[in-house]
Amino acid sequence: MPSTVLITGCSSGIGAATVQCFADQGWNVAATLRKPAQARFGQGRGCVEPFALDVTDQASVDAAVAQATQRFGRIDVLINNAGYGLFGPFETATPAAIRRQFATNVEGVFAVTRAVLPGMRAQGSGVLINIASLTGLVAMPLYSLYAASKYAVVGFSESLSHELAPLGIRVKVFAPGAVATDFSGRSMVRTFESDGGPYADSIAKVQATFATNRASGGAASSAEQLAQALYGAATDGSGQVRYVVGADAQQVMQMRQQIGDEALLAGLRQRFGLAA
Ligand SMILES: NC(=O)c1ccc[n+]([C@@H]2O[C@H](COP(=O)([O-])OP(=O)(O)OC[C@H]3O[C@@H](n4cnc5c(N)ncnc54)[C@H](OP(=O)(O)O)[C@@H]3O)[C@@H](O)[C@H]2O)c1
Repeated sequence: MPSTVLITGCSSGIGAATVQCFADQGWNVAATLRKPAQARFGQGRGCVEPFALDVTDQASVDAAVAQATQRFGRIDVLINNAGYGLFGPFETATPAAIRRQFATNVEGVFAVTRAVLPGMRAQGSGVLINIASLTGLVAMPLYSLYAASKYAVVGFSESLSHELAPLGIRVKVFAPGAVATDFSGRSMVRTFESDGGPYADSIAKVQATFATNRASGGAASSAEQLAQALYGAATDGSGQVRYVVGADAQQVMQMRQQIGDEALLAGLRQRFGLAA
């Protein structure tokens, strides 16, 4: 019997590429998304079926997990991929914007994990993969709330990996660097008005640094490379918990090991033109 993966946020980017990758390997794929009517998945060797799932709505999560389990018999792997970015100064973020960021990026992961756990416990096996970010290990400027949400995902995943190991369930967390999706367009919410308010100067400097990085070709991974890495993690049979993915992310982590936390943070402020 083919294995089954349930993936959140499959409408685009990493989620859509991961659907294709697992389907190509002959897996059953429960491809979940907020608007299943918009699902456009190519054919693979496996069976792909879309299910409606909004990670901020526990009833929709429970319904999607129940339907997918009924359709495919079991869920072997869960990939918590859905998420979006909140960019801008902390001070200008409204409480509602902050709640929404955590409801999606953090509580959304809790909700889907909670829904698949009884089945995985009963079958005595399973792999949970949460997509955090390099920004969940090293915080970039003007991403305080996105970073806080992704640090939370890393902490949750690492602690859960201990708790679920005796039950045969492995937990993994991905920390990708830049991935060439439309994340910074379609999935980036700003905390500030167009003039930037009191932080206009810092915003301009940070945006210019990111733009220079992108223009210089950067070292962004493709969504397909991420999907391959996710497939590898789902099937490597290892107890590895953290996956730092992409040349850019690996370089930052190596630098941190070489120069230490404080020097890395000071170097980032320097690089973004934010040193006092
Ligand atoms: N791209 C990068 O550079 C990068 C780097 C590190 C980590 N990541 C992480 O990778 C993940 C995927 O991002 P991506 O780059 O593939 O961007 P993307 O193409 O914009 O995908 C984001 C996905 O999340 C979904 N989503 C957002 N809110 C949701 C909700 N409440 N319920 C269900 N789905 C929801 C979106 O669905 P809709 O179409 O309905 O909006 C979309 O399918 C995110 O968690 C992101 O933080 C991305």
